[in-house]
Amino acid sequence: MKNKKIKFIIILFSIFLLFFILKIKNINEHPLVQNTEETKPQTTTLFFVGDMMLTRGVKTSVDKNFGGDYSKLFENLKELKEADILFANLEGDVSDKGNNVGSKYSFRMDPKILPVIKEAGFDIVSFANNHIGDWNMSAFKDSLSRLAETGILKTGAGINKEDAENPIIIEKNGIKFGFLGFSDVGPNWMEAKLDISGILLASDPNLPNIIQNAKLKCDVLIVSFHWGEEYKLIHNKRQEKLAYEAIDNGADMIIGHHPHVMQDIEIYKEKTIVYSLGNFIFDQYFSKDTMQGMLFSATFDGKNLVKTDKKIIILNKQYQPEGIFLVEEVKEVEKITKTGCPVPKKDYDDMRLLNIGQIIGLPDPTYIPDELNILNKESSTKEYLCLIKEAKDFFESMIKDAKTDGISIKASSSFRSYEIQKIIFEEAVKKNEDALISVAKPGYSEHQLGTTVDLTGASINYSSSTDNFGQTPENDWLEENAYLYGFIQSYPEGKENITGYKYEPWHYRYVGIENAKLIKESDLTITEFLK
Ligand code: DAL
Ligand code: ZN
Repeated sequence: MKNKKIKFIIILFSIFLLFFILKIKNINEHPLVQNTEETKPQTTTLFFVGDMMLTRGVKTSVDKNFGGDYSKLFENLKELKEADILFANLEGDVSDKGNNVGSKYSFRMDPKILPVIKEAGFDIVSFANNHIGDWNMSAFKDSLSRLAETGILKTGAGINKEDAENPIIIEKNGIKFGFLGFSDVGPNWMEAKLDISGILLASDPNLPNIIQNAKLKCDVLIVSFHWGEEYKLIHNKRQEKLAYEAIDNGADMIIGHHPHVMQDIEIYKEKTIVYSLGNFIFDQYFSKDTMQGMLFSATFDGKNLVKTDKKIIILNKQYQPEGIFLVEEVKEVEKITKTGCPVPKKDYDDMRLLNIGQIIGLPDPTYIPDELNILNKESSTKEYLCLIKEAKDFFESMIKDAKTDGISIKASSSFRSYEIQKIIFEEAVKKNEDALISVAKPGYSEHQLGTTVDLTGASINYSSSTDNFGQTPENDWLEENAYLYGFIQSYPEGKENITGYKYEPWHYRYVGIENAKLIKESDLTITEFLK
């Protein structure tokens, strides 16, 4: 009986061993790496942004606020480089030649913007628009050669009709993406002719043929139109007619611009029509709608469109894009601007001294503190930043006193709802390897307590990218003085093992003046103190 049992165990063991050996062999024959490569989709992502006009008020702002350095305009837009192809409408000539023809608004940009936009990631610009003739033919031709020298492609314009009608082909992952561009808002005198440089007009009776011919040369044809009515939030009949006509003749996607505000997106015969991207960088400070624009992204698997996405780029008062935001995020901000800070829908215990961190979260993750108030504009880069009343009062007096010392500090982030923290966290996880030590999980952020701010300062142009905040005079001032107002840096340098987060020189939490003094004297972190 005992022998039988041993035999049985040996047989069972041998079967396992055999299975194990075969498994290892199998893995070696099909290494994992090879598997991932086999299944890795060949996707190509195109990003589209709207009207880019880097002169007039934008130039004045760059000279005044950024010492003439145009690259500062793009410092919050590093994600643009993630695109395989990045497109914008370039609203005017880029030249030092020509004469002002005296349009109501005449745009001619400094040629030094070209290497900057190339470095920002732009591959192709639409050059068929109503400002292209503002400085006459010599500026237009000069712009074409400067674009070519910089290695930026253009669509909708050419040294003659044939050149303008020839689609620009960008080949990615074996797929030929073709671009054509038309202007439906002139200037008609700039129409490209047999031997004359110029642009393509949407009124060209030959439009169907131009599109059909272009489609023969590529796999995916993107047709761009400068069209529509300025400041209208919905497309008009004329745009619709042109879009349908382009699709009926072979266009795979329609990208529109000119109205300076975003318009609707429509699907026609399974093809996407983006009626207007709105502004990308423009100096139209007079309305919320003109100070933001769309980043439309389209992902293709082979030549099939598999995903589209709409994000929002918001301009600050210096006409510098603040960053790329999700639509939900912008909606939340709009709600706060319209109706004020959120109010709790039920009674909560006071959480302001909760030892919140990597391990301890809010008992109710959707907690909203009582008495949130909007920060005054002297203390904040935005119009919708909220803190609880006590923290707000001390914060605003701290900012005022810093100002007296010649130091200009503002908050760039403050109270975050659960939804906003979730968006920020999920975006970070998508992008950064170190997301878990850079951004708190929703329900675990000090920002949800209504006591916490991220800070920026004049020396970094109140930028939202505050990575180098630690080297600023504003940082030095805060390290010396913030505790006098009840604010303590939550994630100091060298204490990463204790806090669980990377060093964040910009992140301060209000803990009350008495506690702040004790923490400062003891050299503890907030979390050690609260323990
Ligand atoms: N960046 C800090 C950790 C937060 O997300 O709350
Ligand atoms: Zn923070």
